Amino acid sequence: MSPVQQYTNARVLISKIPENTAPNKSHFRTETITITAPELKENELFAKTLVISLDPWIRHTFPEGTSEAPVVGYAIARVLDSKNPKFPVGALIFGPGEWAEYNHISDPEHLADVNRYDGAIVSSGLPLSTFNGILGVPAFTVWHSLRKVADLKEGETIYISSAAGTLGQIAGQLAKRKGLRVIGSAGSQEKIDYLIDELGFDAVFNYKTQDKKQALLDAAGPKGLDIYYDLVGDETVDIALEILNPKGRVISIGTLNMHNNLPVAPIRNAEHILWKQLRFEGYTVFEFYEHFPEFWEEAVPLVKSGELKYKEHVAEARRADGSLDLQVVSESYVDLLAGKHSGKVSVHVADL
Ligand SMILES: NC(=O)c1ccc[n+]([C@@H]2O[C@H](COP(=O)([O-])OP(=O)(O)OC[C@H]3O[C@@H](n4cnc5c(N)ncnc54)[C@H](OP(=O)(O)O)[C@@H]3O)[C@@H](O)[C@H]2O)c1
Repeated sequence: MSPVQQYTNARVLISKIPENTAPNKSHFRTETITITAPELKENELFAKTLVISLDPWIRHTFPEGTSEAPVVGYAIARVLDSKNPKFPVGALIFGPGEWAEYNHISDPEHLADVNRYDGAIVSSGLPLSTFNGILGVPAFTVWHSLRKVADLKEGETIYISSAAGTLGQIAGQLAKRKGLRVIGSAGSQEKIDYLIDELGFDAVFNYKTQDKKQALLDAAGPKGLDIYYDLVGDETVDIALEILNPKGRVISIGTLNMHNNLPVAPIRNAEHILWKQLRFEGYTVFEFYEHFPEFWEEAVPLVKSGELKYKEHVAEARRADGSLDLQVVSESYVDLLAGKHSGKVSVHVADL
């Protein structure tokens, strides 16, 4: 009998966060445990984490109870052992797992969310982290939702909230490529300058310091606003409903407001949907992953040529001596929620 292989597994735990409190570094703890390579049952996987994707929504999966629990997020990982024909040993996957170096993926719900991610990754020659952001789920969400529900028309005007975030930056660039006038909002002058100077947004206002309605009216100008691409879920939706042109659209994609424990604003202006024949539509990406290859075919060349620009922050979890420091995962996550980065935030754990 071959000896059972053992692994040293670093992982991140979280304790209960009091209500109306943004997560801070004291809510997290890192531990290192020794695990044995699992005896896999049918369909199960054992995988090594390569690059962790930090996403604002993970905040909603944090435990309600008082005991500590592992944080479950998403990552690109390499399959080390498999009893699942869809994901053989060596395959690259993107799916849910603990913020940990190794994951035994056995829960059927989690398995259903695992996606084969080899696709364009290896042949593209682009950093693995880009497949968390500009070539990953965020960009795919934007690409697909703009096609499927936003119905962009050349000459229209679109407003994107949280424009300097991962999805916002991509939405602005794709809408520009379609010939729209693009308005965004962001929380600092540095982000505003980047969106205008580097990404070609037509107008960007500071949603923290400016009156949103007036700023939006000024930015939209005489042609008005046709589409609100909502990543935030706050009271801006009421402003948008009020000022949208007839037959305008609100595309509901994100609720960043909720991730920071701020309330999602009730909609008070619903009558405009009726009188202006507006369309208010939500979109979730989960059921559309089979279109990823189509997206990669279009997006990889644009990213390689620099036509599609991106900013990302990739934190390093390896110390100089090669040991693992997963504390950077929770630290980077707290910074992400506080708006300290612009663009996708990932943590590099291991190379391809
Ligand atoms: N529907 C789907 O299928 C789908 C798929 C992927 C993601 N999403 C959702 O899309 C949203 C955006 O995701 P993302 O990855 O682009 O986020 P992100 O990159 O993490 O964006 C974070 C940025 O949002 C801004 N922000 C934070 N709170 C805000 C608030 N209350 N109002 C306005 N801006 C705020 C901050 O920048 P500032 O400095 O500018 O404030 C922060 O840097 C999230 O809600 C995410 O869950 C939806």
